[in-house]
Amino acid sequence: MKKVTIGDLIARKNREKIVMITAYDALFARLFDDYADMILVGDSLNMSFGGKNETIGLSVDEMIYHAKAVQMGAKRAFLVVDMPFGAIYSKKVALKNCIEIYKKTGCDAVKIEGGSEIKGIVKALSQNGVGVMGHIGLKPQLSRKEGGFKVAGRDEESAKKILDDALELELAGARLLLLEGIPSELGKKITNSVKIPTIGIGAGSDTDGQVLVWSDAFGFYDEFKPKFVKRYMDGANLIREAMKNYADEVRNIKFPSSQYEYTK
Ligand code: KIV
Repeated sequence: MKKVTIGDLIARKNREKIVMITAYDALFARLFDDYADMILVGDSLNMSFGGKNETIGLSVDEMIYHAKAVQMGAKRAFLVVDMPFGAIYSKKVALKNCIEIYKKTGCDAVKIEGGSEIKGIVKALSQNGVGVMGHIGLKPQLSRKEGGFKVAGRDEESAKKILDDALELELAGARLLLLEGIPSELGKKITNSVKIPTIGIGAGSDTDGQVLVWSDAFGFYDEFKPKFVKRYMDGANLIREAMKNYADEVRNIKFPSSQYEYTK
């Protein structure tokens, strides 16, 4: 079981697609590790498991707690940890928080949302030895400011800005790029314009890899399904069914039967 490195991911560009998924604990990270090339401890944690309607609100300490757990389960996959909202508001603060996360969680890269406006931060992190994954296009941490999660880069001007963001972040030292919620043609154009791997979510099939939030992909969150999500299982109903069976058996004194009891 060889650990996936940044070199492996870069070598996969234009050759073999990269598979990335989120995880927030050791239990699921262990299940995903054999099949995923990359695992992301995303700040989607705040929504999928925190029950909130936005990613804003997590602290650096909360990300560290979950990332440490994921690291216990993910022995093979390349591990990326999201920097939560507000954790990179200046170069000094970004260096402090990213280096703390990098050291305490053993992750392979931190992911930061932002375009060319944060290129100085990306450069400083990179110069200080921190692997950086940029996150451009739809930026969920701006959802409150922008009034929701909106597909980005639909008009010529904003598409050009996102392409420029990609080029500037690569130049600043980002080793990977996450492209979220953009038209497929733009996903393709960016992927063909940079040398670093692009991982898409709602960015079409031409990016170098794909990422999904696991609770969306496996149908555990069934109240809302964005267009880009494919459900690979009906997790919510499987859990409901199992929970109902357990509750029924306890109430009807069928569980525990003698096989689950200790004897003297
Ligand atoms: O937080 C997250 O899970 C993300 C997704 C876009 C994959 O950043």
